[in-house]
Amino acid sequence: MANSIKELPAILLIDIYKSYGQGESKVDALKNINLDIAKGEFLALCGPSGSGKSTLLNILSGIDKPSAGAAIFLNKALNDLNEDQLSFVRSRHLGFIFQFFNLIPVLSALDNVYYPLVLNGNYGVKEARERALHYLDSVGLAQLANRKPGQLSGGQQQRVAIARALAHEPQVVVADEPTGNLDLATGEAILDLLMKINEETKTTFIVSTHSTQLKDRARRVIEIKDGELVYDTAQ
Ligand SMILES: Nc1ncnc2c1ncn2[C@@H]1O[C@H](COP(=O)(O)OP(=O)(O)OP(=O)(O)O)[C@@H](O)[C@H]1O
Ligand SMILES: [Mg+2]
Repeated sequence: MANSIKELPAILLIDIYKSYGQGESKVDALKNINLDIAKGEFLALCGPSGSGKSTLLNILSGIDKPSAGAAIFLNKALNDLNEDQLSFVRSRHLGFIFQFFNLIPVLSALDNVYYPLVLNGNYGVKEARERALHYLDSVGLAQLANRKPGQLSGGQQQRVAIARALAHEPQVVVADEPTGNLDLATGEAILDLLMKINEETKTTFIVSTHSTQLKDRARRVIEIKDGELVYDTAQ
């Protein structure tokens, strides 16, 4: 009977709608999105600029609330959680990677990875430092750990951001156009790295892009247009 029990998904979106503004200026950014993302999946989210990718990522990771519908993140209905509970879930189980890296310029690469570990209260000073170094090493940056973001290339900065997103071993990593600010070759190397980490750790990855780079490489690709899910390789 064991194989008749389907494992619960990492993320489940049910009839999600999201609108911004009111009246004349109302924008329907997401319309009737239903999505089921399995644990360990690597999902590419494609769609043109303005199609609703960032809105969708923010809702599935509890950064923003839908106007209607339910978002379930690791079996928790996000609508039922207050702000403190949401930030707790995010700090423990979510890693977020941004297009513009969002590193703190005055801190070294090491401290950019280290401080969130200590500030989120998950780790003591010694363990946080060891972890930060380990994850910088795993993205190939151990030698540059003492440099500040301004002394690193775009691809190197994104590697620091990846180490930061992974260092607390979240179950879900969300990346919003992580290659959008990088040249093609550097972007491909970053995508290879994310896919390798996904294969090695079985962490769930959801990665948005408006380029075709990921479309050809990810196992599952979904596409949104004007806020609607128009394509899903799993369907
Ligand atoms: N805070 C906001 N207030 C009003 N409208 C918004 C807001 N955020 C997004 N929108 C609108 O919602 C729609 C979807 O935006 P979203 O940022 O999700 O698109 P996207 O697919 O991420 O685009 P890009 O590829 O350019 O990042 C767009 O029409 C956008 O103008
Ligand atoms: Mg976006």
